[in-house]
Amino acid sequence: MNDKVAKLNIEGETLDLPIVNATYGPHLVEIEALSKHEFFTYDPGFISTASCRSAITYINGEKGILLHRGYPIDQLAAKTDFLTTAYLLLNGELPNSTEQNEFKTIIASHVNPPAIVHDTLQGFAKGAHPMAMLISLMGALAGYFHPIKIRDAAERKHMIEQLIGFMPALVAWSYQHHIGQKTYSPRAGLSYAEQFMYLLFDDKRGNNPILNKAIDRILILHADHEQNASTSTVRLAGSTLANPYACMAAGIAALWGPAHGGANEAVIKMLSEIEDEKNIPKFIARAKDSNDNFRLMGFGHRVYKNYDPRAKVMKQTCDEVLSELGEQHDPLFKIALQLERIALEDDYFIQRKLYPNVDFYSGIILRAIGIPTELFTPIFALARTVGWLAQWGEMCDDNDFKIGRPRQWYTGPKVRDI
Ligand code: ACO
Repeated sequence: MNDKVAKLNIEGETLDLPIVNATYGPHLVEIEALSKHEFFTYDPGFISTASCRSAITYINGEKGILLHRGYPIDQLAAKTDFLTTAYLLLNGELPNSTEQNEFKTIIASHVNPPAIVHDTLQGFAKGAHPMAMLISLMGALAGYFHPIKIRDAAERKHMIEQLIGFMPALVAWSYQHHIGQKTYSPRAGLSYAEQFMYLLFDDKRGNNPILNKAIDRILILHADHEQNASTSTVRLAGSTLANPYACMAAGIAALWGPAHGGANEAVIKMLSEIEDEKNIPKFIARAKDSNDNFRLMGFGHRVYKNYDPRAKVMKQTCDEVLSELGEQHDPLFKIALQLERIALEDDYFIQRKLYPNVDFYSGIILRAIGIPTELFTPIFALARTVGWLAQWGEMCDDNDFKIGRPRQWYTGPKVRDI
């Protein structure tokens, strides 16, 4: 803390509001004192409001920087795998080789979720969205693992590792139920990404290191992104000391929307709708028309007003996967690359700093690998589970943590009689 204050003049009285420094990023004005003076702040969408303190992830949207525990995302993508990044997010430091092996062994020991998962899936009609199933699976697991001593750090650690271990099967089995296909049981001795590919495709995709690496990268790049909508939802649910599986259900619900995790799925739907390169100008014109609510899916970001650093890594992975699979001739990929080029040159997008985001490329990669569109957002959830759990754990460890209870600006009628 420094001794600077912001002076706020309210109705003739001057309030001294402490200014605190972050490691990086804007200074913060602490406004708790305001409520004692019958004033709230109003900040729709939390554009200027920090909801918590966190040491996990730092984003500078103007400069296109993303750090996890201080490490740049491109270095993590190049030099670690998903579980190593997960360990870092959860524990604050990269593991040494003993810690890394132990962590991987523990996660692998939880690869088989309890039978209640299959029972719960049976309650869903074929064709139901896997995200809806994942929400219910978390509810079922909350019922199965209850009560949990949230204040007990060892019990929290166990819950976190267990859920990370369960996730590949939960996602793969939800999809298999969605298409009415039999599920595959996990195999021993596979990496996290290999296990997931195997649970999805059995032996049908072979053990292709380029595709496994691409999945692992997608998981690393989606693992955490500070206080986004789904993470904030997990923290808010967790602030009531709710069961962590129930908190994950809340996070998955928030992630599902097309303005957040649903964007990678929406990208492919949009590219299919465009259908042919000759239709691109029509769609660009619609995106620019203020009377049309159509937006180019996979472009723009609430925080990044520069190239999303994850999108840079993803684009490189996208090139590797397309050349490995010889898929450059898929008309959808041609449309995607053409759209990217036009949007990057168009004044409308340049002035508003609307760059392709991580989901623009992840949608293309997942489609090229043969992963069905309905699984795109569940794969995002698979990765983000680590970030949600790291943030939830950090919140539980924070002595200052209180139940999250935002205030409101009441605009309804004054009291009246019936
Ligand atoms: N296509 C066309 N115009 C856009 C787009 C887009 N994708 N995104 C923003 N704009 C325009 C808006 O119309 C607005 O224009 P105006 O100033 O003329 O009114 C301006 O850019 C600013 O838009 P906001 O909605 O204020 O930007 P915000 O930061 O709130 O929105 C969001 C960010 C929701 C991601 C938005 O860019 C969007 O809807 N993108 C498409 C969906 C998408 O790809 N989401 C994935 C995000 S990444 C993730 O969750 C991992």
